[in-house]
Amino acid sequence: MIIIRIQDIAAHTGETVTLQGWLYARTDKGKLQFLQVRDGTGIVQCVVFKKEVPEEVFAAAARLTQESSVEITGTVRADPRAPGTPGGFELGVSDLKIVQVANEYPISPKEHGVEFLMDWRHLWIRSSRQWAILRVRATVMRAIREWLDTNGFLEMSTPIITPSAAEGTSTLFEIDYFGESAYLAQTGQLYNEANIGAFGRVYCFGPTFRAEKSKTRRHLTEFWMVEPEIAYCDLDQLLVIEENFVSHIVQTCLRERAAELKVLERDTSVLEKMIPPFPRISYDEAVARLKTLAEQETDPEKKALLKIEWGDDFGSPHETELTKQFEKPVFVTGYPTAVKAFYMEPWPGRPEVCKSADLLAPEGYGEIIGGSERISDHDTLLQRIHDHKLPVEHYKWYLDLRKYGTAPHSGFGLGVERTVAWICGTEHIRETNPFPRMLQRNYP
Ligand code: 4AD
Ligand code: MG
Repeated sequence: MIIIRIQDIAAHTGETVTLQGWLYARTDKGKLQFLQVRDGTGIVQCVVFKKEVPEEVFAAAARLTQESSVEITGTVRADPRAPGTPGGFELGVSDLKIVQVANEYPISPKEHGVEFLMDWRHLWIRSSRQWAILRVRATVMRAIREWLDTNGFLEMSTPIITPSAAEGTSTLFEIDYFGESAYLAQTGQLYNEANIGAFGRVYCFGPTFRAEKSKTRRHLTEFWMVEPEIAYCDLDQLLVIEENFVSHIVQTCLRERAAELKVLERDTSVLEKMIPPFPRISYDEAVARLKTLAEQETDPEKKALLKIEWGDDFGSPHETELTKQFEKPVFVTGYPTAVKAFYMEPWPGRPEVCKSADLLAPEGYGEIIGGSERISDHDTLLQRIHDHKLPVEHYKWYLDLRKYGTAPHSGFGLGVERTVAWICGTEHIRETNPFPRMLQRNYP
């Protein structure tokens, strides 16, 4: 007897194998029981035919409730009509061993509200949609490391307990650090600016914390972000790196997660277009386009949401409408300095604008990357720290980097959950993290 996983089933056609898994669903037709069994790598239909198994095996199969754990043995048959994921194979059952008959399962095929499902998240992740999304997530994370590791970036761990703010003071999670205030990291970027002085090109990849006090479908309070940082790199060079990086992530998912994207009913033809170059527009142009859209809008409610003046940051209705004009992700460059973080390099000759670029995903998914060229001049940076009323003593080391071999440098942060939501085509990013943390949710 050999134990296999469903993902490897094709290689075992005609053989007798054992699967270790759980009953996902069942259909009974008198002498035939069709058991949909999942093992974490896929779902396969297992057919129990009364005439072909001992009586006690048929009876045991009949006792299996949804999510019962079971070891099931049978012969692998290729059948293009067989349902399942990836499908195309079924198991002609010869034996089975019940590990546990599960209690009545709280998640039934009927529609449940999201809050109910979130309370049962520890079980909900077994449902095929959630399973598919989280498999895509794992591939996104692998593709991220793969591309960076093969393009000369060194992975660096940056601290999670930090003394100061980097992305604004309004979203800090404060903790008690032996009687002193400390904060959970909003970004590893500042440390990576030190790391590039030692290694040239680096990235950090880990959980990031922001006390987001509003409920939106794009914000978590704990999310994963990858942050590459590059020495001797200006904004134009940065965008080329970003588009190649994002394209690699999408292409890897298309290649390796076709079955999961099918479960999600994702229109993959739109993802196939994610080949560089991606369009680039300035913030000025984006505002002009949004003004035109607002003028043309006939629905007064939508019109009000689209209203914008030069200097305003974009809200999600702005990003949604803007990205509908493009088939690929679009870079918006040169945001107003006032709406961006303190460390961004001023635009030459236009200090009211900074050398920033956000990458907005198409189909209304919005910002997946925030990036910029960084201030490399000591005095300009010091001035900005003062302007933002940040405590200079916390940034002494960061200012030092501008004294000992400063150079132009740039970097960006890509949010894993937003990227997965876009690739999977899910409305809300809560489904892209196994155990999401949000305002009003810290359970399970
Ligand atoms: O634009 P942000 O705030 O940029 C930074 O943190 C920079 N330090 C990155 C860098 O240049 N090294 O965040 C970057 C990305 C966003 O584009 C978004 O994808 C994601 O992180 N993000 C969030 N994702 C989920 N929930 C939140 N609350 C998020 N905030 C940002
Ligand atoms: Mg941003």
